[in-house]
Amino acid sequence: PRAGLVDPFGRRVTYLRVSVTDRCDFRCVYCMAEDMQFLPRRDLLTLEELDRISSAFVERGVRRLRLTGGEPLVRRNLMQLVRRLSRHLESGALQELTLTTNGSQLARHAAELADCGVRRINVSLDTMDPDRFKRITRRGEFGAVMDGIRAAQAAGIRIKLNAVALKGVNEDELTEMVRWAHGRDMDLTLIETMPLGEVDEDRTDRYLPLSVVRERLSREFTLTDLPERTGGPARYVSVGETGGKLGFITPMTHNFCEGCNRVRLTCTGTLFMCLGQEDAADLRSVMRSSESDETLHRAIDAAIARKPKGHDFVIDRSTNRPSVSRHMSVTGG
Ligand code: GTP
Ligand code: 5AD
Ligand code: SF4
Repeated sequence: PRAGLVDPFGRRVTYLRVSVTDRCDFRCVYCMAEDMQFLPRRDLLTLEELDRISSAFVERGVRRLRLTGGEPLVRRNLMQLVRRLSRHLESGALQELTLTTNGSQLARHAAELADCGVRRINVSLDTMDPDRFKRITRRGEFGAVMDGIRAAQAAGIRIKLNAVALKGVNEDELTEMVRWAHGRDMDLTLIETMPLGEVDEDRTDRYLPLSVVRERLSREFTLTDLPERTGGPARYVSVGETGGKLGFITPMTHNFCEGCNRVRLTCTGTLFMCLGQEDAADLRSVMRSSESDETLHRAIDAAIARKPKGHDFVIDRSTNRPSVSRHMSVTGG
């Protein structure tokens, strides 16, 4: 077997996020501009190429694969890739194959995802109010997402909801969302907005530190820190009144980079070693230069050797430019 991936800070890279498209059928206000320039389709890796690079990472000890976007389910024939990748679940090489989705197309794909061995997915949902949902996503249909969630649950897939906490937008309903999610056997994770890419609104106006949210929630609920970390950035608490689990992803108020286990592949075969840095490695041209995977593995080693210590995101009115110029939808978070 090939050697595992360990970065210069001794962190083991066992988790790969694969963005299968930069496109999305929504335009969430904190993620995208209304007027986005997407990549020409000819620049995309084929599904075979996405499989080849992902599988090279599995050979190097990656145990969890998460497909992201844009919106992963808008990539044509995505299920063919999911089906192929599921062979690594069957062989035991991979522990988890999953995705992060906006839920809009989930109803159509839930049964097949479950059949491919997907046990758990993350669905982005920032509000329970259909009008607000429209304002945040600009294009989304709340009902379609609800149908998607129901279909996934009916197929036996566990759901974690992701909500970005937005000042003046959804802060008044986070308590209700905890009750709603937990009442339906879903986990919920709250996220601090991160400064990636120019969007139409000022992030400073929307930024809400989760330390404040936690303080507010603890007036309603009994929150108890859970020791467990699931290998992701979230810290979890249990909610006494609901019996459910609530996660906090706090890149701004509490940096978690020292435990980072992940790298990100874009739909054009660029590897980003950190969500919050610009440095990247072009794996597409390396892969296309040879039928053999040897040069690809060497390029992966060289990339991991450059993995930075962490992000340096700032949300600050005096520096109103995003810390990272690419949009979140290029690497899928
Ligand atoms: P699991 O831990 O596997 O459940 O998933 P996750 O929470 O890491 O993934 P998800 O796609 O649901 O992402 C939730 C939020 O976490 C998004 O806003 C991501 O941008 C953010 N996120 C995921 N990984 C990182 C990371 O390494 N650094 C930072 N700063 N944010 C991350
Ligand atoms: N900051 C924090 N989270 C974001 N997401 C998209 N853009 C941002 C941002 N600027 C979230 C989405 C989705 C996940 C992949 O990333 O809501 O849940
Ligand atoms: Fe699409 Fe997700 Fe970005 Fe919203 S946050 S525009 S659903 S990629």
